[in-house]
Amino acid sequence: MTSEDLDSLKKAAALKAIEFVRDGMVVGLGTGSTAKHMVVALGEKVRDGVRLRGVPTSQETAALAKQSGIPLIDSENRWEIDVALDGADQVDPSFNLIKGGGGALLKEKIVAASAKQFIVMVDHTKQVPVLGGSFSLPIEIIPFGWGCTAREIEALTKSRVILRERNGAPFKTEAGNLIVDAHLDRIDRPGELETALNLIPGVVETGLFVDRTNVLIVGTPQGVHTLHVPRK
Ligand code: A5P
Repeated sequence: MTSEDLDSLKKAAALKAIEFVRDGMVVGLGTGSTAKHMVVALGEKVRDGVRLRGVPTSQETAALAKQSGIPLIDSENRWEIDVALDGADQVDPSFNLIKGGGGALLKEKIVAASAKQFIVMVDHTKQVPVLGGSFSLPIEIIPFGWGCTAREIEALTKSRVILRERNGAPFKTEAGNLIVDAHLDRIDRPGELETALNLIPGVVETGLFVDRTNVLIVGTPQGVHTLHVPRK
């Protein structure tokens, strides 16, 4: 599949996802190439007269939302998000996710956690039998003592941990933190790993999104599949 083909599957999933947005809703706006299609399509809804307000998960998404005419809620506010729509890097059969390929995992998790419904949009290549392997786990950590934090992460996960860089310098998140990517061959118990990582001093948040997905929308060459996640 070419990247154009994959992008059209992402777009198809995004167009399906916006069907969950109703007049008057507050919408969590994810980050990434799939989320971009969603934001643009939501802008068209706004132009058609649908009233909604967005909570963006990155400056990039905020800029696109403004350009698309979507009114935004002040980030300092205490929001009530009706539905959050976001992409993912990997999805396992229990609908757990790895996110953070674009570095926006902290705001994405805050928004997903505060939404009544969390809808995930992916193309079919993101579906994996088990998390890990082809995609490293992003972990946001504070800069102070980051090498020690990375060492603790390595000891816990028994994996290779690499400081993310951009243009030859450490990648800085919007919160001013760093990201390390941990290469784990397989993550069999994502919930336990998420909890253990969050106990390491210096870890701000991980890219594991466990038991958060309410609806998974998958763009495939055979069409778009919408999967409602049974509540536990
Ligand atoms: C951003 O930090 C990520 O969590 C993205 O949501 C994820 O990487 C999916 O991105 P794409 O939609 O670009 O594949």
